[in-house]
Amino acid sequence: MTTTTAAADLADPDDLADLDASIRTDPGAHRVLTGDRPTGPLHLGHYFGSLRNRVRLQRLGVEMFLVIPDYQVITDRDLADRLAEHTENLVLDYLATGIDAERATIFTHSSVPALNQLLLPFLSLVSVAELHRNPTVKDEIAHSSQAAVNGLMLTYPVHQAADILFCKADLVPVGKDQLPHLEVARTVARRFNERYPHPDGTTVFPRPGALLGAAPLLLGTDGGKMSKSRGNSIPLAADEDTTARLLKGAKTDADRRISYDPAGRPEVSNLLLLAALCQDRTPEEVAEEIGDGGAAALKRTVTEAVNEYFRPIRARRAELAADRGHLREVLRAGSERANVIADATLAEVREVMGSL
Ligand code: TRP
Repeated sequence: MTTTTAAADLADPDDLADLDASIRTDPGAHRVLTGDRPTGPLHLGHYFGSLRNRVRLQRLGVEMFLVIPDYQVITDRDLADRLAEHTENLVLDYLATGIDAERATIFTHSSVPALNQLLLPFLSLVSVAELHRNPTVKDEIAHSSQAAVNGLMLTYPVHQAADILFCKADLVPVGKDQLPHLEVARTVARRFNERYPHPDGTTVFPRPGALLGAAPLLLGTDGGKMSKSRGNSIPLAADEDTTARLLKGAKTDADRRISYDPAGRPEVSNLLLLAALCQDRTPEEVAEEIGDGGAAALKRTVTEAVNEYFRPIRARRAELAADRGHLREVLRAGSERANVIADATLAEVREVMGSL
């Protein structure tokens, strides 16, 4: 199973192959930015949808930026609960899964003022109708517990464009749900470049492309989208007993013959997929092996596969967790570096806009 598909232009498969080839032959020509909201522990959906791919890219030699978008937390809730703890836990997840802090720039949104200022000119490039049309935002609004939709909810995809464009990243490894946001970033970059070219005709921003993990989207234990906020996810850092308990509670169906049929049997197929990802085999092979062992055997297989795969990652995470000072230092150094870059980009933006 290949681990990535690259998407330079999501509509054009030829571009995908070109980009993947270019990453391999000239990793230094690319810059990756991605990030995760500090709202709770990262789960297996994040890992197979994006994290694993980031580590692979960094190992290929691509420069890596990881934003912890703390301002995005307050899009669908009033308070950013336990922000510092969640932020440190994200850094732990990154380092434990193999991100090299020496070579990556890890920082929070709110520690880079110039990044946030880019939001203002960027917002002028997007219509209110476009903001309302974003399918991921619509889905989040539908699942939000807030009585009213706040302004940040509607505009955060533009903020995300600033996250990506401040460092002129051209590659964004994300899960499928983020594709509409990538489209916003591309639109913002294109419109900004058209409206504000340098006098010599060169432009300020590259057009970032999504890098999708090859793994199909993992579902949560209830058969819905796996999400931190929906209580249906298996955290990366869960211990083995918790993993077993969560998987034991996963939704399945009554047919004892286990088969891989994502359309007809989404829950069973999702568990097969998870085991397959951990064991580097196909879901069909896993199904074949379980035969008519039913849901109980399926869950045992998946639990073992997950615990086996994540054992070294979890052990490393526990080691790193003992040194909070180190985590803080990683964030401090990342923020320092991100600020230098954001200041330079903002200066360039102000210049092409003719600001004094
Ligand atoms: N919106 C992303 C999420 O909810 C997090 C995010 C913020 C992000 N800024 C980003 C992802 C920039 C990729 C690039 O998970």
